[in-house]
Amino acid sequence: MPAPAQSSTTAAGQLFIFDHPEPLWEAAADQIAQTIRRQQGRATLGLATGSTPRALYRILARHHQEGGLSFQNVSTYNLDEYYPISPLDPNSYRLYMHQHLFSKIDIPPNRAHVLDGTVPESAVEAHCAEFERWIEHDGGLDLQLLGIGRNGHIGFNEPSNLPPDQAAALPTRKMPLHPVTRADAARDFGGNEAHVPAFALTLGTRAILSARAILILATGPSKAEAVAKAIQGPVSSQVPASFLHTVAPKVTWMIDRAAAQALR
Ligand code: PGA
Repeated sequence: MPAPAQSSTTAAGQLFIFDHPEPLWEAAADQIAQTIRRQQGRATLGLATGSTPRALYRILARHHQEGGLSFQNVSTYNLDEYYPISPLDPNSYRLYMHQHLFSKIDIPPNRAHVLDGTVPESAVEAHCAEFERWIEHDGGLDLQLLGIGRNGHIGFNEPSNLPPDQAAALPTRKMPLHPVTRADAARDFGGNEAHVPAFALTLGTRAILSARAILILATGPSKAEAVAKAIQGPVSSQVPASFLHTVAPKVTWMIDRAAAQALR
């Protein structure tokens, strides 16, 4: 893996700080490729969307096209999806995954799972429970890839006032989006927050924290405060990424200098 400028063990996991984002994407792609190879190609991956992993997916596609990395026997489960949303909507995470990764690798369509933003309201709970069962049937997540929201969310597990042990054990479910999340998403919806769906389906904290390894990525100054709170603050339901403290031995943070600037 490209060498980070700095590495340390923190209360929230192993921390790698890179001077620039590009080697960070390469290192993250290497960790995912290694997970697949270690499992003889049969890995189960939890994937993320948003602006953070785009470059990582470009590199993973290159690993497939030039390095012979096969996804034929890989299963993927995405963290979240807006609700309601059509899979053909340019802002759906299903389309994002198709464009950035699934169409560029050899993963069979029935192994590349994204929560379905078109299920009827009455079926949402059953769909979310079934999504968790699919993951279990696939042997559980070998690696969960995460970004972090400016408000410290992971997936769409937003800040709450729940007791931490409850907030860290939430099931996959429908969630109203936090105002900070809606404001950040507005850029994808023509700059108009009113066009951002009010809800999303999200993998719960319980399933995320159950993954056998967790790789969390953050770049840029807008993430610095959330990163510092998550790594150096107390475990708090106000900062869902702080729940990573509870599973620190299996967590790897890869961040750039800008995202590290609020760390003490
Ligand atoms: P971003 O989102 O990658 O678009 O910054 C990360 C997140 O909100 O989890």
